[in-house]
Amino acid sequence: MTLVIRGQVISFASDGAVLHEPKGAVLVGGNGHIEWVGPANAIPAHAMSATMHDYGDKLVMPGLIDAHIHFPQYRMLAAPGRDLLDWLSRFTFPEEARYSDHAYAAVKAEIFLDRLLAHGTTTALTFCSVHKACADALFAAAERRNMALITGKTMMDRNAIPAVQDDPETGARESEELYKSWHSKGRLRYAVTPRFAVTSSEEQLRLSGELLKSLDGALIQTHISESAREIAMVKTLFPNAKDYTDVYDQFGLLSERSLLAHGIHLSERECQRLSETGSTVVHCATSNTFLGSGLMSMTHLQKAERPIHIGVGTDVGGGTSYSMLATLGETYKVQMLGGYKPTAAELFRMATIGNAQRLHIEDETGSLSVGKFADIAVIDPEATPVLKSRHELSQSLEDILFSLIILGDDRAIAATYVAGNRLHQKEAA
Ligand code: GUN
Ligand code: ZN
Repeated sequence: MTLVIRGQVISFASDGAVLHEPKGAVLVGGNGHIEWVGPANAIPAHAMSATMHDYGDKLVMPGLIDAHIHFPQYRMLAAPGRDLLDWLSRFTFPEEARYSDHAYAAVKAEIFLDRLLAHGTTTALTFCSVHKACADALFAAAERRNMALITGKTMMDRNAIPAVQDDPETGARESEELYKSWHSKGRLRYAVTPRFAVTSSEEQLRLSGELLKSLDGALIQTHISESAREIAMVKTLFPNAKDYTDVYDQFGLLSERSLLAHGIHLSERECQRLSETGSTVVHCATSNTFLGSGLMSMTHLQKAERPIHIGVGTDVGGGTSYSMLATLGETYKVQMLGGYKPTAAELFRMATIGNAQRLHIEDETGSLSVGKFADIAVIDPEATPVLKSRHELSQSLEDILFSLIILGDDRAIAATYVAGNRLHQKEAA
């Protein structure tokens, strides 16, 4: 069965090019892949009798990609910590402790993924809790939806409550078991997931480096240089390291496959090493302002002589919104405070093809290109009264995209498709 999705088709290429067909269409083949994209008046003859989903002037865009989010924090947004470490110990670890129970995690995984889809997010690089059962539950729920989901069991063997701690050997063994069960099953991928240097011993970080080397195609995700007290604690825990980045470097954790959330307070030397190793820093703007962590500067990280790859993520539940639109809006504001004014097109590119590249899945998602899976968000730039009146003033595509990042959220998501299946549709008002 083929499907034609009609609307204002927009997609971003990594070289900065923008595809914009104001009256466009995407043809989806029976295997969930994009067969053709172009003007609606030129749909190939063989698709003339296909099922049609017509969205009028709404935007038909690649599904949004969240490069950093925590599944077991899905219901703890707006927990007011004094800073990161206070927030982790007071709210986060007790909440994550619940995910030792597979039945509990399985129910929550359905809610979590449906919530991502309701916000137009079709792919995420996600933290689970320390419990293997949590990752098993999330992988299973994502597989049923045919999502390109990347996750892993969090490894953390110190400086937390016992209910969310493992030990180096168990953490490594369970990570390997999960990789064998789920990596490359359908569209799923595994990420080795040491939480951060504060909660992993040297032995656990060493084993994480070995896992990254031995598990073919796996990513590694962790946190880096987020808050002042965290950085001071890392200095005490690793007195021989040059700095925070050097801790991960010493254990072989920096590579093209490494995604490090935050990176707010990185020194010149650290930026140099992150650039040399091809690592990615994932900017999580709503979390950084909410927890008072600081203002990450994209211009600092992207200096021409040592550019660092940058991804974008919500960091729910430190982040305050599941919406990548809202996250891009906050990214804009944080960068403005640092003296840099990104365009909306640049930010949408980061949240689609950019994040797909950072997650090494650009061959299958991130843009509306023939041969990729039809992972699609349909976005309504007139979804609310405020957006509608703002839309009356929009004179360009950039205007429309910009109004969506500042004023948009899940209310603007009209529908979401994963591999050509419509898994979310906004209820009529
Ligand atoms: N650093 C270590 N764990 C976490 C977490 O769960 N959230 C955030 N924002 N930072 C962290
Ligand atoms: Zn995080």
